[in-house]
Amino acid sequence: MDTQRLVDTARTLVAGDRGLLAMDESTPTCDKRFAKLGIPTTASMRRAYRDLIVTTPNLGRCISGAILYDETIRQQTLAGTPFAQALEQAGIVPGIKVDAGAKPLAGFADEVVTEGLDGLRERLGEYAGMGARFAKWRAVIRIGPMIPSLGCVAANAHALARYAALCQEAGLVPIVEPEVLMDGDHTLERCREVTESTLALVFEQLRAQRVLLEGMLLKPNMILPGEAAADPGSVDAVADATVGCFLRVVPAAVPGIAFLSGGQASARASAHLNAMNLRFRGRMPWALAFSFARAIQQPALEIWRGQAANVGAAQQALFHRADCNRAARRGDYDAAADAPRAA
Ligand code: 13P
Repeated sequence: MDTQRLVDTARTLVAGDRGLLAMDESTPTCDKRFAKLGIPTTASMRRAYRDLIVTTPNLGRCISGAILYDETIRQQTLAGTPFAQALEQAGIVPGIKVDAGAKPLAGFADEVVTEGLDGLRERLGEYAGMGARFAKWRAVIRIGPMIPSLGCVAANAHALARYAALCQEAGLVPIVEPEVLMDGDHTLERCREVTESTLALVFEQLRAQRVLLEGMLLKPNMILPGEAAADPGSVDAVADATVGCFLRVVPAAVPGIAFLSGGQASARASAHLNAMNLRFRGRMPWALAFSFARAIQQPALEIWRGQAANVGAAQQALFHRADCNRAARRGDYDAAADAPRAA
C-alpha cells in the first residue's frame, strides 16, 4: 500500500477552498431526475449531461474532485476524450462510485444495507486502471420511531470499513459516506443522536479493519431536523449541532469532512457550510468541505432540460453554485447576494 500517495490524494481533495462534485447518480436515479423534467432517459442524454458538467469553463477553480458512475467512466466527452481524462485536464481528480446500492436488510423492516463487496477488489483494480484515484460508498440510515436498529447500523458500518480497506489496498482514497436521511418529522436533536452513534460505530469498524484514517475522507449528512419537522431550525443551530457532533466522534487524523447535501435547497446547503466554517474557524482539526450532487447540479439541470441551446446558461448556473460553496468553505458566502439567483 502506497500510504503517502493515499495521504497526498486525500489532502489534495480538501485543500484550500475547493470541494467535490458528486456526479455519480446511478442510471435509475439520473433517469428519474431527467424524467421529471421531460428529458429523454437515454445513455446519450446522460452522456451529454455529464459532458455539460465536465466542460463547464473554470470548474476546476472550485472543484477538486468529481465522482463518476460506472457508465460515465466508460464513456467519452462529446469531443471524444474519456471522462476521467477530461477531468484530469480540467485540474479535477476523477473518482468513482463503487457501491451497488442500498437493498432491504433481511429481518429488519424498513431498513437497508448497501451491497457491492463481492468482486470489489477486481472492480477497484479496473477503475484504478481507468484513472480513478478515489472512490465512494454510500450507506443509508433511516430515522423512524423504532429505527435505526443497532443491527442495521452495524451491518452498514462493517461494509463501509471493508470497502475502505479494499480501496486503500488498490491505492484509491475511500470516501466513507454514512448518510442519515432527512426523511421524516424528527427533531434536530434526534438527528444528532443518530448521526453521533452511527459515526461512532463507523469509526470503530474502520479501526477494526485497519483503515488508514489519514488516507480517507468522511462524507456525512449535516445535522438537520427532518424535512417534515415543525421547526426547520436556524442556520446557526444546524452549524453548531453538526460541528459539535463531529468534534466528539470524528478523529483528528481524518484530513477532511465533505458533506452531502441530502435534498436541502442549494442556497441553504451553502449557508450551512458557510456558518460552520465561520463559527468554528481555527477550532476544527479537519477541513470542512462539500461533496454535493443536487445542491450543485439541480439549478443547472433545470435550465438545461436536454436542450443543446441551454448548455451555456446551465454551465453558468453550475459554476455559480460551485463558486458559492467554494466561498462557503472560506466563510465568505454572501447569502443575500445569492438569494435572487437561488430563488
Ligand atoms: P446529494 O448532495 O444530492 O445528497 O448527493 C450526494 C451524494 O453523493 C449522495 O451519495
